[in-house]
Parts: sequence; structure tokens; C-alpha cells
Amino acid sequence: MKSYITTPIYYVNGSPHIGHAFTSIMADILKRNRQALGHELMLSTGVDEHGQKNQEAAADLGMPVGEFLDMRCNEFRNVFDRLGVAYDYFVRTSREGHKTAVAGMEQSIFDRDLIVKKNYTGTYCKGCEEFKKESDLTEDGQCPLHPTMKVEQTEETNYFLKMEPFRERLLQHIADNPEFVQPEAFRNELKQMLAEPLDDLCISRPKTRVTLGIELPFDTDFVTYVWFDALANYLTNIGWPEAGYEDWWAECEHMIGKDILKPHGVYWPIMLMAAGLPLPKKLSVHSHWVGAGGVKMSKSIGNVVDPIEVIEKLGVDALRWYLARHMRADSDSQISVEFITQTYNTELGNKIGNLLSRAAKFSKARFDGKLPAPGPLTAEDEAIRKAVVEAVKGMGDWVNLADIPARMQAIITVADEMNNYFAEQAPWDLIKNEETRERCQTVIYVTLDSLRVVMEALTQVIPGSAGKALSMLNAPEVASPWKPELDRLTGDSDLGEIETLFPRVQ
Ligand code: MSP
Repeated sequence: MKSYITTPIYYVNGSPHIGHAFTSIMADILKRNRQALGHELMLSTGVDEHGQKNQEAAADLGMPVGEFLDMRCNEFRNVFDRLGVAYDYFVRTSREGHKTAVAGMEQSIFDRDLIVKKNYTGTYCKGCEEFKKESDLTEDGQCPLHPTMKVEQTEETNYFLKMEPFRERLLQHIADNPEFVQPEAFRNELKQMLAEPLDDLCISRPKTRVTLGIELPFDTDFVTYVWFDALANYLTNIGWPEAGYEDWWAECEHMIGKDILKPHGVYWPIMLMAAGLPLPKKLSVHSHWVGAGGVKMSKSIGNVVDPIEVIEKLGVDALRWYLARHMRADSDSQISVEFITQTYNTELGNKIGNLLSRAAKFSKARFDGKLPAPGPLTAEDEAIRKAVVEAVKGMGDWVNLADIPARMQAIITVADEMNNYFAEQAPWDLIKNEETRERCQTVIYVTLDSLRVVMEALTQVIPGSAGKALSMLNAPEVASPWKPELDRLTGDSDLGEIETLFPRVQ
């Protein structure tokens, strides 16, 4: 079974920020989950290189555009590499093959008489790279998403894609496929966007205003609207229009933030319908991260969370864990370096890392560098083993974007239970008498084998640390397809070097 996961492609007018890191890390977690189910994966992420915003950012730095794009592209790629995002394809919309394919798509829609040329006067937001209706603006006439960018009055001749002929069909598609947009709150929001007749979509920009873009195949005075160009990446990444893309496309799932629901839920499906192509399988929508107290992050407030700063201070898994654990499905979630540090210390450090290092060090010290073989199991042993399997079972099933936090919560809850089990069984007392020595062996084995099961599940979320833990335990390779399975550690086998997985940070 194939599975194709995409992230948005990011504007390169600034450096990668926490929002970019978040979507790509979540996509990576879902990729690892699908792989654990035995699927063949394709994960794309990358950069959106065209449009007025990028063009102006290059000019502001006084750099030739090509050089600027290369610089930013490398920056994004490096950040995703450092975040452990295992992308299979890194998108650059400046790639020749992409540009030719986009022009081909436009020509085919033009040939179907679905594109018209007309004069248009309106308000333009550079942040969104789109024209705004009065009803889209705030009371003081600004874009609610980009209030500081200041909208501009524009009068232009442009090319427009007819949208209204497809509205009913799209609504029907949404009604027939409840999985198409997830979670439900965003499906309702999309239905709302489609409740009224749709204006034609402006799909060009005159070269007098924007030069950084793909030339229209039917009029060389214009470049393609950056969203039309960018959305097409999802097809061009898998080789469209050449044959071979179909199986991937049939299993395509887009991860997006709530701010870009309209382009993905309205423009993109209609572009595809206009081009006679099938729609993607699914749009998984997430809310945003805001600063502590629910305040929007901004440089002037000083509450911006820089992903690189976090991973330098706490390690990449502290960030991955926090994002996976504390994202809320349909409301914004709060983030700050302090919150991440706290969660890292109390959850990864105290509940998971500490138990592993205590149990493993005890085992090495008391059992000659080895993991002891267990004796007969008691009801307490059976109970904790059962709880562990139950808690991680969800990671052996299909995980949706919105399910991730609950699956992490289950793991932390069982980590608490494992700590209680360890404290109650008190192996340090059991080791003191020859009669209870075998019982001590069993407790150590049960604890470390349970931790192995948890770590196997966590390879989907914090692969670096989980991998290290598994090699400390000298665990066999994680099975694929994966299900939680007990007793994969061998009694009387050597343990690896025990390091502190999550050193405490103040
Ligand atoms: N280039 C377009 C997308 C084209 S996709 C065909 C774009 N780029 S972007 O650089 O603005 O990044 C968009 C992504 O970052 C969205 O998924 C958006 O939701 C996400 N985030 C931006 N800020 C965010 C937060 N504060 N929190 C979470 N994600 C946020 O739009």
C-alpha cells in the first residue's frame, strides 16, 4: 500500500519558524506511523519560491534573486534535516520540470475555456498574495492575517479561472467523503466558504508588478499567480503529467494550517476539476501555535520560539515531543521555550529517561552487565505489561494528525504506571535476599522489556532518542509491520552502554 504525505511548501521571504517546523515534523511522524503499518511512503516538503513577497525579500537584502533563493532553500533544507524530517522529496518551485508542468496545466484549462481575461480593481494583500473582498478585511481595512503588511489598492488586467461552475460538485464531494477534510470543525468552515457563489480566481500577475513566477503559456506579459503554481507542486513532485504518479496521487494526504484552508479546500480542488484530474484523498488541518497566555508570537513582544534555538538548548526530541504532545486539534496551542523545557524535564526526563537509566544501571551493576532472565510472572507484572501494550497499541494503528496528542498522553500515563510499579516492587530490596533474587530479576526484566515496547512506539515520534534507548537495551530491530509485542528482549543478554537520554536542563 502506498501513502503520499505532503506539507505546505513554505515562502522563503524569512527564515524557517516554528509553524514550518511543526507541520513538517507532524508529517514526519505520520510518515513513520504509516511505515510502521508497512506502507510504502512518499513525504514531500520544501519551498515556495515565487511571488511578490519573495521577490521583495531578495530586493530588500540587495541580492540577485537566484542567489537569494538558493540561500533560503539551503537554510530550509538544513533546518528540516536537523529536525529529523525524513522527507523523500524536497520541493523547489523554481525547478524546470515543475514550471513546464504548471504551464501545461494552465494551457489545458485555458483550452477548456475556463480562463477569462478581464480588468479588476481591488484590494491586495501581499501576505496572502491574494485579492481581498471588503468583507475579508478588518474594521480598519487591513488583512486580519497580516495586519502590519498594509493592503494595497490595485487596478489590473489579469486572467481569471471560473470557479462557480465547480462549486456544487465540490460541495457534493465533501458531503460524499466525510474523510476529505479533517477535523470536522474545518470541514464546516470549508462548507461555509462554499455556501455563496464563488468569484472567479485571479491566476495571473502582470510582469510590471511581479516577475518572479512562471510565465503564462498563453500570454507572456504575465506570470502565474503564486498559489496556482505552488499548489501544483503536489502533483509535479510525483512526476505528473508523466505516467506513474497515479498510485501515489490516489493516496495523497495534505497537511495544512488553518490559515491556508481556502487555497487547499477551494482553489486546489477546483483547479484539479478544471484540469480533469481527481482530487486528493484528504486534507488534514491543524490550528496554530501562539505564545504563552495565548498571545500571538512576535519579535516585538519577544515571545517567538525559534526551532533552532530550542534544539540547540534541549535537543531535537524535546521540540518534537512538545509539538506532538501539546498540539490541540481545533483551537490554538501555546508554546514557549519555558514550556518546552518543563515538559522535557518532567516527562521525557523524569518519567521515561530516568526510569530507563535507573533500571538499566541497576541491572548492569547487579547482574554482571546483563539483563536478567525473568522467573514466573505475578499479577502485578501481568497488569503493567497489559497496560503498556494497551497504551501504545494506537501507534500500531493508523494515526490521524489530530490523534497524535491523545496517543502521546496514553504513553505518558502508562509511564507513570511503570514508575509506580518499579517503586512498589522495589528491586533494590529484593536483591538483598537470595530467596527474592529471582523476583528481582523478573521485576527488572518486566520493567526494561516494557520500556522497550514504549521506545519502539516512540521511534515514530522521537526517533533519535528512542533509537538510542533501544540500542542501550540491545533490543532487536523494530519489526515492520509493527505491533506492540512483549518479550522481545532476551534474558541473560548483555546490555549496551547506559547514557542519560534526556539530561536535565535548567
Ligand atoms: N507558501 C504557502 C503555502 C503553499 S502550499 C501549496 C504558505 N507558506 S508559509 O510559509 O506561510 O507557511 C505556511 C504554513 O505554516 C501553514 O501550514 C501555516 O499554517 C503554518 N504556520 C505558520 N504559522 C504558524 C503557527 N504559528 N503555528 C502553526 N503553524 C503555522 O502559506
